[in-house]
Amino acid sequence: MSSLLAPISIGGLRLANRIVIAPMCQYSAKEGVIQPWHWQHLGTMAISGAGVAIVEATGVEAIGRITPGDTGLWNDEQEAAFVRLLADIRSYSKTPIGIQLAHAGRKASTNAPWTERGGPLAPEAGAWTTAAPSAIPFTEGWHRPEALDDAAMARIKAAFVESAKRADRAGFELVELHGAHGYLLSEFLSPISSIRTDAYGGSLENRMRYPLEVAEAVRAVWPRDKALGMRLNGSDWVEGGLTPDETAQMAHRLQALGFDYVHISSGGNVATAKIPGGEPGYQVAFAEVVKKAAPDMTVIAVGMINTPEQAEAIVASGKADMIALARPVLDDPRWPLRAIAKLGGAPPYPVQYARAAEPLWPGYAFAHGG
Ligand SMILES: Cc1cc2nc3c(=O)[nH]c(=O)nc-3n(C[C@H](O)[C@H](O)[C@H](O)COP(=O)(O)O)c2cc1C
Repeated sequence: MSSLLAPISIGGLRLANRIVIAPMCQYSAKEGVIQPWHWQHLGTMAISGAGVAIVEATGVEAIGRITPGDTGLWNDEQEAAFVRLLADIRSYSKTPIGIQLAHAGRKASTNAPWTERGGPLAPEAGAWTTAAPSAIPFTEGWHRPEALDDAAMARIKAAFVESAKRADRAGFELVELHGAHGYLLSEFLSPISSIRTDAYGGSLENRMRYPLEVAEAVRAVWPRDKALGMRLNGSDWVEGGLTPDETAQMAHRLQALGFDYVHISSGGNVATAKIPGGEPGYQVAFAEVVKKAAPDMTVIAVGMINTPEQAEAIVASGKADMIALARPVLDDPRWPLRAIAKLGGAPPYPVQYARAAEPLWPGYAFAHGG
Protein backbone atom coordinates (compact mmCIF):
# COMPACT_ATOMS: atom_id res chain seq x y z
CA MET A 1 0.00 0.00 0.00
CA SER A 2 1.51 3.30 -1.09
CA SER A 3 1.91 6.02 1.54
CA LEU A 4 2.13 8.71 -1.14
CA LEU A 5 -1.23 7.69 -2.53
CA ALA A 6 -3.02 7.54 0.82
CA PRO A 7 -5.71 10.24 1.07
CA ILE A 8 -5.11 12.96 3.65
CA SER A 9 -7.12 15.75 5.25
CA ILE A 10 -5.50 19.12 5.81
CA GLY A 11 -7.82 21.28 7.80
CA GLY A 12 -11.24 20.72 6.29
CA LEU A 13 -9.85 19.76 2.91
CA ARG A 14 -9.77 16.14 1.83
CA LEU A 15 -7.05 15.30 -0.70
CA ALA A 16 -6.98 12.17 -2.83
CA ASN A 17 -3.21 11.77 -2.46
CA ARG A 18 -0.13 13.48 -1.01
CA ILE A 19 1.27 15.02 -4.17
CA VAL A 20 1.15 18.83 -4.24
CA ILE A 21 1.75 21.04 -7.26
CA ALA A 22 4.00 23.74 -5.78
CA PRO A 23 3.28 27.40 -6.43
CA MET A 24 5.12 28.58 -9.54
CA CYS A 25 5.33 32.20 -10.66
CA GLN A 26 4.61 32.55 -14.36
CA TYR A 27 5.32 36.30 -14.53
CA SER A 28 2.64 36.50 -17.20
CA ALA A 29 -0.15 38.51 -15.60
CA LYS A 30 -1.20 42.00 -16.69
CA GLU A 31 -1.84 44.47 -13.88
CA GLY A 32 -2.02 41.41 -11.64
CA VAL A 33 -4.80 39.82 -13.73
CA ILE A 34 -4.34 36.25 -14.93
CA GLN A 35 -4.10 35.74 -18.69
CA PRO A 36 -4.73 32.88 -21.18
CA TRP A 37 -1.35 31.42 -20.21
CA HIS A 38 -2.64 30.83 -16.69
CA TRP A 39 -5.70 29.00 -18.03
CA GLN A 40 -3.52 26.49 -19.85
CA HIS A 41 -0.92 26.24 -17.08
CA LEU A 42 -3.36 25.76 -14.20
CA GLY A 43 -5.78 23.72 -16.28
CA THR A 44 -2.92 21.36 -17.06
CA MET A 45 -1.94 21.15 -13.40
CA ALA A 46 -5.57 20.49 -12.43
CA ILE A 47 -5.61 17.32 -14.55
CA SER A 48 -2.13 16.21 -13.47
CA GLY A 49 -3.45 13.75 -10.89
CA ALA A 50 -1.97 15.69 -7.94
CA GLY A 51 -3.95 15.93 -4.72
CA VAL A 52 -3.91 19.74 -4.84
CA ALA A 53 -2.43 22.47 -7.04
CA ILE A 54 -1.33 25.82 -5.61
CA VAL A 55 -1.42 28.98 -7.73
CA GLU A 56 1.76 31.04 -7.85
CA ALA A 57 2.89 33.69 -5.35
CA THR A 58 0.19 36.32 -5.74
CA GLY A 59 0.76 39.85 -4.51
CA VAL A 60 -1.50 41.21 -1.80
CA GLU A 61 -0.64 44.74 -2.89
CA ALA A 62 1.00 46.24 -5.96
CA ILE A 63 4.38 46.98 -4.36
CA GLY A 64 4.44 43.42 -3.01
CA ARG A 65 4.86 41.90 -6.46
CA ILE A 66 8.20 40.40 -7.43
CA THR A 67 7.75 41.65 -11.00
CA PRO A 68 5.14 43.68 -12.91
CA GLY A 69 3.99 40.33 -14.37
CA ASP A 70 3.03 38.78 -11.02
CA THR A 71 -0.53 37.82 -10.31
CA GLY A 72 -2.31 39.98 -7.74
CA LEU A 73 -5.40 39.71 -5.59
CA TRP A 74 -6.14 43.19 -4.33
CA ASN A 75 -8.87 44.35 -6.70
CA ASP A 76 -12.17 43.23 -8.21
CA GLU A 77 -10.83 42.62 -11.70
CA GLN A 78 -8.15 40.25 -10.40
CA GLU A 79 -10.70 38.45 -8.25
CA ALA A 80 -13.21 38.14 -11.10
CA ALA A 81 -10.61 36.53 -13.36
CA PHE A 82 -9.85 33.92 -10.66
CA VAL A 83 -13.59 33.29 -10.27
CA ARG A 84 -13.79 32.49 -14.00
CA LEU A 85 -10.67 30.32 -13.94
CA LEU A 86 -11.83 28.26 -10.98
CA ALA A 87 -15.33 27.80 -12.42
CA ASP A 88 -13.77 26.60 -15.68
CA ILE A 89 -11.45 24.19 -13.87
CA ARG A 90 -14.28 22.87 -11.73
CA SER A 91 -16.22 21.99 -14.89
CA TYR A 92 -13.66 19.29 -15.73
CA SER A 93 -11.58 18.57 -12.61
CA LYS A 94 -12.22 17.82 -8.95
CA THR A 95 -8.65 18.71 -7.96
CA PRO A 96 -8.75 21.34 -5.19
CA ILE A 97 -6.96 24.56 -6.15
CA GLY A 98 -5.10 26.72 -3.65
CA ILE A 99 -3.30 30.03 -3.91
CA GLN A 100 -0.12 31.36 -2.36
CA LEU A 101 -0.53 34.90 -1.01
CA ALA A 102 2.68 36.87 -0.95
CA HIS A 103 4.50 40.11 -0.43
CA ALA A 104 7.93 40.31 -2.00
CA GLY A 105 9.39 42.83 0.45
CA ARG A 106 12.92 43.90 -0.53
CA LYS A 107 12.92 41.44 -3.45
CA ALA A 108 10.05 43.25 -5.19
CA SER A 109 10.38 45.43 -8.27
CA THR A 110 12.49 43.07 -10.35
CA ASN A 111 12.46 41.73 -13.90
CA ALA A 112 11.07 38.35 -14.87
CA PRO A 113 13.87 35.76 -14.75
CA TRP A 114 14.15 35.79 -18.54
CA THR A 115 14.92 39.56 -18.61
CA GLU A 116 18.24 40.77 -17.15
CA ARG A 117 18.35 37.47 -15.26
CA GLY A 118 15.63 38.74 -12.94
CA GLY A 119 17.64 41.66 -11.59
CA PRO A 120 16.11 44.86 -10.21
CA LEU A 121 13.80 46.85 -12.46
CA ALA A 122 15.29 49.98 -14.02
CA PRO A 123 13.48 53.25 -13.34
CA GLU A 124 12.44 53.47 -17.01
CA ALA A 125 10.92 49.98 -16.71
CA GLY A 126 8.69 51.20 -13.88
CA ALA A 127 10.74 50.41 -10.75
CA TRP A 128 8.96 51.16 -7.48
CA THR A 129 10.09 51.76 -3.91
CA THR A 130 10.28 48.49 -2.01
CA ALA A 131 9.59 47.89 1.66
CA ALA A 132 11.14 45.48 4.16
CA PRO A 133 11.76 44.99 7.88
CA SER A 134 15.08 46.82 7.60
CA ALA A 135 16.59 49.10 4.96
CA ILE A 136 19.08 46.50 3.70
CA PRO A 137 19.18 45.67 -0.02
CA PHE A 138 19.05 41.97 -0.97
CA THR A 139 22.48 42.33 -2.57
CA GLU A 140 24.68 44.89 -4.25
CA GLY A 141 22.89 46.81 -6.96
CA TRP A 142 19.40 45.88 -5.75
CA HIS A 143 16.83 48.38 -4.51
CA ARG A 144 17.32 49.68 -1.00
CA PRO A 145 13.96 49.08 0.70
CA GLU A 146 12.28 51.46 3.09
CA ALA A 147 12.09 50.04 6.61
CA LEU A 148 8.43 49.42 7.40
CA ASP A 149 6.86 51.53 10.14
CA ASP A 150 3.84 50.48 12.22
CA ALA A 151 1.33 52.01 9.82
CA ALA A 152 2.83 50.26 6.80
CA MET A 153 2.94 46.95 8.65
CA ALA A 154 -0.73 47.35 9.56
CA ARG A 155 -1.54 48.16 5.92
CA ILE A 156 0.21 45.02 4.64
CA LYS A 157 -1.42 42.83 7.28
CA ALA A 158 -4.81 44.19 6.22
CA ALA A 159 -3.89 43.51 2.58
CA PHE A 160 -3.19 39.84 3.39
CA VAL A 161 -6.59 39.64 5.08
CA GLU A 162 -8.40 41.28 2.15
CA SER A 163 -6.68 38.99 -0.35
CA ALA A 164 -7.61 35.94 1.72
CA LYS A 165 -11.26 37.05 1.70
CA ARG A 166 -11.07 37.49 -2.06
CA ALA A 167 -9.46 34.06 -2.41
CA ASP A 168 -12.31 32.52 -0.46
CA ARG A 169 -14.93 34.28 -2.57
CA ALA A 170 -13.16 33.23 -5.75
CA GLY A 171 -13.46 29.58 -4.75
CA PHE A 172 -9.95 28.70 -3.68
CA GLU A 173 -9.91 25.83 -1.19
CA LEU A 174 -6.46 26.41 0.25
CA VAL A 175 -4.43 29.49 1.11
CA GLU A 176 -0.69 29.34 1.63
CA LEU A 177 1.06 32.39 3.08
CA HIS A 178 4.50 32.84 1.54
CA GLY A 179 6.91 32.90 4.46
CA ALA A 180 9.96 31.64 2.53
CA HIS A 181 12.58 32.53 -0.10
CA GLY A 182 13.57 35.94 1.25
CA TYR A 183 10.22 37.61 0.62
CA LEU A 184 8.61 39.87 3.20
CA LEU A 185 7.45 37.44 5.88
CA SER A 186 10.68 35.45 5.74
CA GLU A 187 12.65 38.71 5.86
CA PHE A 188 11.11 39.29 9.27
CA LEU A 189 11.97 35.76 10.40
CA SER A 190 15.62 35.87 9.41
CA PRO A 191 18.21 37.74 11.48
CA ILE A 192 20.09 38.41 8.24
CA SER A 193 17.37 40.59 6.70
CA SER A 194 15.84 41.96 9.89
CA ILE A 195 18.05 43.98 12.20
CA ARG A 196 15.14 45.77 13.82
CA THR A 197 15.56 46.87 17.41
CA ASP A 198 11.84 47.15 18.19
CA ALA A 199 9.43 44.37 19.22
CA TYR A 200 9.79 42.84 15.70
CA GLY A 201 13.54 42.18 15.69
CA GLY A 202 16.27 40.47 17.66
CA SER A 203 15.07 37.37 19.52
CA LEU A 204 13.24 34.61 17.67
CA GLU A 205 10.10 35.59 19.55
CA ASN A 206 10.38 39.10 18.15
CA ARG A 207 11.26 37.96 14.62
CA MET A 208 8.24 35.66 14.55
CA ARG A 209 5.92 38.39 15.79
CA TYR A 210 4.90 40.01 12.50
CA PRO A 211 4.50 36.81 10.45
CA LEU A 212 2.41 35.41 13.32
CA GLU A 213 0.30 38.56 13.50
CA VAL A 214 -0.40 38.25 9.77
CA ALA A 215 -1.09 34.52 10.18
CA GLU A 216 -3.53 35.13 13.03
CA ALA A 217 -5.38 37.83 11.11
CA VAL A 218 -5.73 35.59 8.06
CA ARG A 219 -6.81 32.65 10.22
CA ALA A 220 -9.64 34.79 11.56
CA VAL A 221 -11.16 35.23 8.09
CA TRP A 222 -10.19 32.01 6.29
CA PRO A 223 -12.86 29.28 6.63
CA ARG A 224 -12.08 26.31 8.85
CA ASP A 225 -13.53 23.89 6.31
CA LYS A 226 -10.76 24.85 3.88
CA ALA A 227 -6.98 24.51 4.33
CA LEU A 228 -4.54 27.14 5.57
CA GLY A 229 -0.78 26.86 5.65
CA MET A 230 2.48 28.73 5.43
CA ARG A 231 5.61 28.16 3.39
CA LEU A 232 8.70 28.57 5.54
CA ASN A 233 12.43 28.52 5.03
CA GLY A 234 14.15 25.70 6.89
CA SER A 235 17.45 27.52 6.48
CA ASP A 236 19.12 30.58 4.98
CA TRP A 237 22.13 28.36 4.22
CA VAL A 238 24.55 30.77 5.93
CA GLU A 239 26.14 31.00 9.36
CA GLY A 240 24.05 33.26 11.55
CA GLY A 241 20.92 32.79 9.45
CA LEU A 242 17.57 31.15 10.19
CA THR A 243 17.90 27.58 11.48
CA PRO A 244 15.67 24.48 11.11
CA ASP A 245 15.04 24.51 14.87
CA GLU A 246 13.75 28.07 14.68
CA THR A 247 11.51 27.03 11.80
CA ALA A 248 10.21 24.15 13.91
CA GLN A 249 9.29 26.64 16.63
CA MET A 250 7.48 28.73 14.06
CA ALA A 251 5.57 25.62 12.99
CA HIS A 252 4.51 25.05 16.61
CA ARG A 253 3.26 28.59 16.88
CA LEU A 254 1.34 28.31 13.63
CA GLN A 255 -0.24 25.11 14.87
CA ALA A 256 -1.33 26.87 18.04
CA LEU A 257 -2.99 29.52 15.84
CA GLY A 258 -4.93 26.82 14.01
CA PHE A 259 -2.83 26.52 10.86
CA ASP A 260 -3.24 23.23 9.04
CA TYR A 261 0.15 22.74 7.42
CA VAL A 262 3.65 24.06 6.83
CA HIS A 263 5.55 23.74 3.57
CA ILE A 264 9.28 23.58 4.16
CA SER A 265 11.58 25.15 1.59
CA SER A 266 14.82 27.13 2.06
CA GLY A 267 17.12 29.82 0.71
CA GLY A 268 16.51 32.94 -1.31
CA ASN A 269 17.34 35.40 1.44
CA VAL A 270 21.11 35.62 1.03
CA ALA A 271 22.52 36.15 -2.45
CA THR A 272 25.88 34.55 -1.61
CA ALA A 273 24.54 31.44 0.16
CA LYS A 274 25.89 28.13 -1.13
CA ILE A 275 22.84 25.90 -1.64
CA PRO A 276 23.23 22.26 -2.72
CA GLY A 277 20.26 22.76 -5.01
CA GLY A 278 21.36 20.07 -7.43
CA GLU A 279 21.05 17.28 -4.87
CA PRO A 280 17.89 15.20 -4.80
CA GLY A 281 15.76 15.97 -1.76
CA TYR A 282 18.18 18.68 -0.58
CA GLN A 283 15.55 20.30 1.67
CA VAL A 284 13.88 17.17 3.03
CA ALA A 285 16.05 17.15 6.17
CA PHE A 286 14.52 20.51 7.16
CA ALA A 287 11.01 19.13 6.77
CA GLU A 288 12.07 16.18 8.90
CA VAL A 289 13.32 18.43 11.71
CA VAL A 290 10.00 20.27 11.69
CA LYS A 291 7.97 17.05 11.56
CA LYS A 292 9.88 15.59 14.51
CA ALA A 293 9.38 18.74 16.57
CA ALA A 294 5.75 19.25 15.60
CA PRO A 295 4.44 15.74 14.91
CA ASP A 296 0.81 16.83 14.82
CA MET A 297 1.44 19.43 12.13
CA THR A 298 1.06 18.40 8.51
CA VAL A 299 4.42 18.97 6.82
CA ILE A 300 5.09 19.23 3.10
CA ALA A 301 8.60 18.56 1.79
CA VAL A 302 9.78 20.08 -1.50
CA GLY A 303 12.88 20.42 -3.64
CA MET A 304 14.41 18.03 -6.18
CA ILE A 305 11.94 15.28 -5.42
CA ASN A 306 12.24 13.84 -8.85
CA THR A 307 10.97 10.26 -8.87
CA PRO A 308 7.86 8.50 -7.54
CA GLU A 309 10.07 6.13 -5.54
CA GLN A 310 11.85 9.06 -3.86
CA ALA A 311 8.50 10.71 -3.08
CA GLU A 312 7.09 7.46 -1.71
CA ALA A 313 10.13 6.93 0.54
CA ILE A 314 9.87 10.43 2.02
CA VAL A 315 6.24 9.98 3.00
CA ALA A 316 6.56 6.31 4.00
CA SER A 317 9.49 7.10 6.33
CA GLY A 318 7.46 9.83 8.04
CA LYS A 319 9.97 12.59 7.20
CA ALA A 320 7.05 14.55 5.80
CA ASP A 321 3.34 13.98 5.27
CA MET A 322 3.24 15.21 1.70
CA ILE A 323 5.61 16.21 -1.08
CA ALA A 324 5.44 19.09 -3.54
CA LEU A 325 6.73 19.29 -7.09
CA ALA A 326 7.66 22.26 -9.24
CA ARG A 327 10.19 21.59 -12.03
CA PRO A 328 9.30 17.89 -12.40
CA VAL A 329 5.74 18.83 -13.39
CA LEU A 330 6.86 21.59 -15.71
CA ASP A 331 8.89 18.95 -17.50
CA ASP A 332 6.16 16.32 -17.29
CA PRO A 333 2.71 17.55 -16.25
CA ARG A 334 1.51 13.94 -16.08
CA TRP A 335 4.14 13.11 -13.41
CA PRO A 336 1.49 12.46 -10.71
CA LEU A 337 -0.61 10.26 -13.02
CA ARG A 338 2.46 8.22 -13.94
CA ALA A 339 3.47 8.00 -10.26
CA ILE A 340 0.03 6.75 -9.30
CA ALA A 341 0.18 4.06 -11.98
CA LYS A 342 3.72 3.07 -10.96
CA LEU A 343 2.80 2.81 -7.27
CA GLY A 344 -0.16 0.59 -7.98
CA GLY A 345 -3.00 3.11 -7.84
CA ALA A 346 -5.67 3.99 -10.40
CA PRO A 347 -4.53 7.16 -12.19
CA PRO A 348 -7.49 9.56 -12.48
CA TYR A 349 -7.07 10.29 -16.18
CA PRO A 350 -9.74 12.62 -17.52
CA VAL A 351 -12.13 10.43 -19.51
CA GLN A 352 -11.20 12.32 -22.66
CA TYR A 353 -7.59 11.16 -22.26
CA ALA A 354 -8.14 7.72 -20.76
CA ARG A 355 -7.40 5.96 -24.03
CA ALA A 356 -3.79 7.05 -23.64
CA ALA A 357 -3.50 4.89 -20.54
CA GLU A 358 -3.63 1.44 -22.05
CA PRO A 359 -3.43 -0.36 -18.70
CA LEU A 360 -6.66 1.39 -17.75
CA TRP A 361 -8.44 0.48 -20.97
CA PRO A 362 -6.74 -2.63 -22.36
CA GLY A 363 -7.53 -3.05 -26.02
CA TYR A 364 -9.88 -0.07 -26.04
CA ALA A 365 -7.82 2.03 -28.40
CA PHE A 366 -7.85 -0.74 -30.97
CA ALA A 367 -11.51 -1.70 -30.60
CA HIS A 368 -12.69 1.92 -30.87
CA GLY A 369 -10.34 3.48 -33.35
CA GLY A 370 -12.66 6.43 -34.09
C1 LIG B 1 9.02 28.39 -12.54
C2 LIG B 1 9.09 28.39 -11.04
C3 LIG B 1 8.36 29.33 -10.32
C4 LIG B 1 8.36 29.32 -8.92
N1 LIG B 1 7.54 30.19 -8.24
C5 LIG B 1 7.39 30.02 -6.90
C6 LIG B 1 6.36 30.72 -6.20
O1 LIG B 1 5.53 31.40 -6.79
N2 LIG B 1 6.31 30.55 -4.86
C7 LIG B 1 7.16 29.73 -4.17
O2 LIG B 1 7.05 29.62 -2.96
N3 LIG B 1 8.10 29.03 -4.83
C8 LIG B 1 8.21 29.13 -6.16
N4 LIG B 1 9.11 28.36 -6.84
C9 LIG B 1 9.85 27.33 -6.09
C10 LIG B 1 9.11 26.00 -6.18
O3 LIG B 1 7.80 26.08 -5.62
C11 LIG B 1 9.90 24.86 -5.51
O4 LIG B 1 9.95 25.10 -4.13
C12 LIG B 1 11.30 24.74 -6.06
O5 LIG B 1 11.32 24.84 -7.46
C13 LIG B 1 11.93 23.39 -5.66
O6 LIG B 1 11.12 22.33 -6.09
P1 LIG B 1 11.44 21.48 -7.44
O7 LIG B 1 12.81 20.90 -7.25
O8 LIG B 1 10.35 20.44 -7.47
O9 LIG B 1 11.39 22.41 -8.60
C14 LIG B 1 9.15 28.38 -8.23
C15 LIG B 1 9.91 27.46 -8.96
C16 LIG B 1 9.87 27.44 -10.35
C17 LIG B 1 10.67 26.39 -11.09
